[in-house]
Amino acid sequence: MRFNIVSTALNTISGDVCVLGIYKEKGLPKQVSDIDRSCGGMIKEAMRYGFNAEFGRQCLLHVDKGIKAKRILLLGLGKRSELDLKKIRILLARMCLYLRQQNTKSYCMQLIRSSDRRDSFSDTVEAHITSHESALYEFNQYKTERKEEYIPIVEASFVCLASELKSAKESAKKAHHVVQAMNLIRNLVNEPSNMLTPSNLARYAVSMSKRDGISCKVYGRKEIEKMGMRAFLGVAKGSAEEPKFIVMEHKPKKSHGKICVVGKGITFDSGGISIKPSKGMDEMKMDMGGAAATIGIMDAVARLKIPVHVYGIVAACENMPSGTAQKPGDVVETMSGKTVEIANTDAEGRLILADALHYATTLKPDAIVDLATLTGAVVVALGSHATGMFTNNSVLAKTMEAAAFQSGEAVWRLPVWEDYQEDVKSDIADIKNIGLPMEAGSITAAMFLKFFIGKTPWIHLDIAGTAWTDGRKHIGVKGATGSGVRLVTRFIEEISEMKASRR
Ligand code: BES
Ligand code: MN
Ligand code: ZN
Repeated sequence: MRFNIVSTALNTISGDVCVLGIYKEKGLPKQVSDIDRSCGGMIKEAMRYGFNAEFGRQCLLHVDKGIKAKRILLLGLGKRSELDLKKIRILLARMCLYLRQQNTKSYCMQLIRSSDRRDSFSDTVEAHITSHESALYEFNQYKTERKEEYIPIVEASFVCLASELKSAKESAKKAHHVVQAMNLIRNLVNEPSNMLTPSNLARYAVSMSKRDGISCKVYGRKEIEKMGMRAFLGVAKGSAEEPKFIVMEHKPKKSHGKICVVGKGITFDSGGISIKPSKGMDEMKMDMGGAAATIGIMDAVARLKIPVHVYGIVAACENMPSGTAQKPGDVVETMSGKTVEIANTDAEGRLILADALHYATTLKPDAIVDLATLTGAVVVALGSHATGMFTNNSVLAKTMEAAAFQSGEAVWRLPVWEDYQEDVKSDIADIKNIGLPMEAGSITAAMFLKFFIGKTPWIHLDIAGTAWTDGRKHIGVKGATGSGVRLVTRFIEEISEMKASRR
């Protein structure tokens, strides 16, 4: 796929489709009416016969004169004052799916501009690239007869002002790196658990790290035992697959600050002895969405050469019931020395994270960000439209909220007040791994994690609702969404800019 950023006139660009965005307001802009005139008034005619420029409307016209492209796609932008980047992303994704359906090999268009002043130019460019590549993502690994339904789109040209060329090209290149990293990890999340075992996840991390020139260490069961990660091992105990603890490190020569990204890597969550109902259990192959995001973030950070020292830490195992599985009521001593009562073996994510987060604190970072498909309760609270954010630091919260706005990946902050700590008190150990029935399930999960964080500034992102889609909301395919990659990469960039400007 090639993206061109150019400042040439639209009508001179050859290719399959020339996309013309049309606002709902009366009167066509000069450039469009010029094109209309030279191809015989087809656009005005289409507008007389039904195309009303309502947001998201599309109308394909075959043209034989006036412009270099073979067809024109009229794209309804709705009211100018209402058009922001969020809507532009939706619009572009739908447009790409439609263009593919029409067997388009190449298209050109002017960059669509947001009317919201808070949307920057670079985010606008980013949205064009990301929407395209994200919407056209497919996972067809296991179809023996891959239907060649579509000719792939191979080239897109975006037109901007000559004075914007340089910065637009830079932003496009960056966006391309990040969305590549994101689509690669969507593959990991979509892979079934018999294919993507903890060992295979580790193998992927190693080969990616090699490609990106970052370091990657993988620890097996013996080493995990030696490190004293008994909460992690307790979860892994019921499975025949060996657990893997993966530590990636991006350490540029010059860097501002140190950040640990930590991911939950349950390659399959059956619930363990507290087994889940069978309906929907197949989806629990996605319970390594946080781990995948962590790997994708490391990929993106390395490709972008962001000047921050970043660790990517993943605890990967299966949660299975068996004769060797841990049981409700068991008590384990975590790596930190604190003890945990396992009240429910299905609350396993927080157990492996207790050790992974403690490990992260020993690296003495400026901040820890963890990503986990941690609770069904966050899906109840926020649905699939926002990631739950929990943090002990308001400056970090602001930075993450800014990154969310810029990347289009929404987060919503939920509290981690001391009041909730009561709910995870155990009768026989320091803490237990579930809260009160039907009460604040995602908050008590976060309180559990907080117990192992100490004083380190920390953000926990519960992506249980956003890592996977049934195809309802997300434009594009069902399955993995790549949630967290663009958000946290942007967050790390923000941190590097903040730290750099403080010097
Ligand atoms: N992996 C699940 C959470 C989850 C649910 C992720 C739905 C994605 C979609 C997690 O390990 C889990 O089972 N959580 C339990 C916790 C409970 C036992 C306290 C839950 O949310 O029901
Ligand atoms: Mn579980
Ligand atoms: Zn889980």
